[in-house]
Amino acid sequence: MSLSALKVVFALCFLHAPFTQSHKNTITRDVAIIGGGSAGTFAAVRLRDEGKSVVLVEKESILGGHTNTYKDPETWVTVDYGVEIFHNQQLVKDYFNRLNVSWTIEVPNFGSSSPHYLNSSANSIIYESPDPREGLLAYAEQLAKYPSIERGFFLPDPIPEDLLLPFGQFLAKYPGIGNAAYTIFQYGQGLGDFLNQPTLYVFKNFGLDIIQDISTGFLVTTSSDNYEIYDHATKVLGPDVLFNGQVVSTQRRDDQAIELDIETPFGTQVVVAKKLLIAIPQKLDNMNHFALDTREANLFGKFENTGYYTSLVKNTGLPTNFTSYSVSSGAPYNLPTLPGIYSIFATAIEDVFDIKYGSPHSVPDDFVQNEILSYIKKLQANGYAEKVSGEPEFVAYKSHAPFELTVSRDRIAKGFYNDLYSLQGHRNTWYTGAAFHTQDSSMIWNYTESYVLPELLK
Ligand SMILES: Cc1cc2nc3c(=O)[nH]c(=O)nc-3n(C[C@H](O)[C@H](O)[C@H](O)COP(=O)(O)OP(=O)(O)OC[C@H]3O[C@@H](n4cnc5c(N)ncnc54)[C@H](O)[C@@H]3O)c2cc1C
Ligand SMILES: *[C@@H]1O[C@H](CO)[C@@H](O)[C@H](O)[C@H]1NC(C)=O
Ligand SMILES: *[C@@H]1O[C@H](CO)[C@@H](O)[C@H](O)[C@H]1NC(C)=O
Ligand SMILES: *[C@@H]1O[C@H](CO)[C@@H](O)[C@H](O)[C@H]1NC(C)=O
Ligand SMILES: *[C@@H]1O[C@H](CO)[C@@H](O)[C@H](O)[C@H]1NC(C)=O
Repeated sequence: MSLSALKVVFALCFLHAPFTQSHKNTITRDVAIIGGGSAGTFAAVRLRDEGKSVVLVEKESILGGHTNTYKDPETWVTVDYGVEIFHNQQLVKDYFNRLNVSWTIEVPNFGSSSPHYLNSSANSIIYESPDPREGLLAYAEQLAKYPSIERGFFLPDPIPEDLLLPFGQFLAKYPGIGNAAYTIFQYGQGLGDFLNQPTLYVFKNFGLDIIQDISTGFLVTTSSDNYEIYDHATKVLGPDVLFNGQVVSTQRRDDQAIELDIETPFGTQVVVAKKLLIAIPQKLDNMNHFALDTREANLFGKFENTGYYTSLVKNTGLPTNFTSYSVSSGAPYNLPTLPGIYSIFATAIEDVFDIKYGSPHSVPDDFVQNEILSYIKKLQANGYAEKVSGEPEFVAYKSHAPFELTVSRDRIAKGFYNDLYSLQGHRNTWYTGAAFHTQDSSMIWNYTESYVLPELLK
């Protein structure tokens, strides 16, 4: 046999090695992690570094979840149209350093200094954007009463009435915060029916640490390419990631190994793991292959969700420095009605605009896309954008529904989050991700590191 033929045989053996081991298609690990977004990827890297063996199952072909980065094919300029900023915290720095991702601290620049405030027919309305600073101080004073919710759903007992109030009623009770309402709404994009959400969720979304970072700076990747985090994590994790993987059935028994059947493009893989970590949105219809018991199904069945959609659009005719925020004249705090456009921002790529869309519930992607395109037509008709030849075109579009997972104020009052947290470790299964804390990568890493990893490392 020639050397090159030998090489081919060797390469073939090597390629097939993971799938032809003694027990066909069985992978044995300390921890099986489901969901390779922000939470799951962090947990996988940290557990590996602490000496545990892991397998990470991700349904998409890349890691990163809500992190979306677009690379212009001609200039290679990158634009983050999903996750953009991180907290200036030691944990985040340590994680980025571990992954060799260069970071810097940046005070946010919220688009141009003179944004347009537009209504849903893309008409400018007379709106004097109030100075939010005093309102934010009054808001921070309220936040400061509940430091434990910055770490997780650690609610005082009994749960203070203010945390349960729909945020609109909370604002009516503390009118000094009113001037900051619009700012909090725009920062907290994705919260859906903002004024009807229990104040707890608004507080968790826009907490003290964020307010601090607004003035002293957020941590950002030096490359403005947040996918770098996940690209490097993919290399670190190597074959421990099963991409395009879907759990199709699970056997979970108390005090015994978990067994998962996972469909992948290479056939079904059997994973046997001592512990299971579920880091996907824990909506019941996304959890139906995990052999839930009634207690688990009852809790996950309570989650409602909002819809949040992000896109990059070209050929719009909008001027290069165009920024707009949606408002509704006459509405409380001028908040726009959703479903609808949140904002439009110019990006680092010329003629490519970042358009965010929100809804109190999931809506179909073709509906969102049509709404975005017809909004651009209105902008053109109203003279904000030049008429261009050809149609506006999506260069990227991503649905992030189901986004914010919430339960009613009544369920919160009845101890939903105590019940949810008491699932940690039940049937050798642990949980992390946004529904267990808040829609914020840094905060989720902090929660995972502080409360979930110690259990998985036992
Ligand atoms: C447009 C946008 C902008 C944002 N901006 C910021 C920001 O600037 N800073 C910030 O900190 N946070 C931001 N967030 C919020 C942040 O993205 C989330 O807090 C964080 O990503 C949540 O992490 P997670 O791991 O819970 O979920 P995700 O990151 O969504 O990860 C879940 C993963 O599980 C996978 N998955 C789902 N179902 C299954 C299944 N059945 N089997 C296998 N895999 C599955 C998904 O594909 C995904 O990879 C933003 C979110 C959006 C949508
Ligand atoms: C975790 O978050 C809390 C609350 O914001 C903060 O005080 C703490 O410093 C964070 N931990 C790390 C390691 O960054
Ligand atoms: C870390 O990143 C720097 C800059 O991107 C690169 O030059 C270096 O080779 C990287 N080191 C490792 C170990 O990946
Ligand atoms: C956009 O740029 C133009 C010319 O460069 C300038 O005249 C205009 O004031 C800018 N508009 C905004 C909203 O910043
Ligand atoms: C938007 O504003 C314009 C101009 O003020 C007005 O004519 C139009 O009716 C408004 N549209 C909506 C949906 O409020």
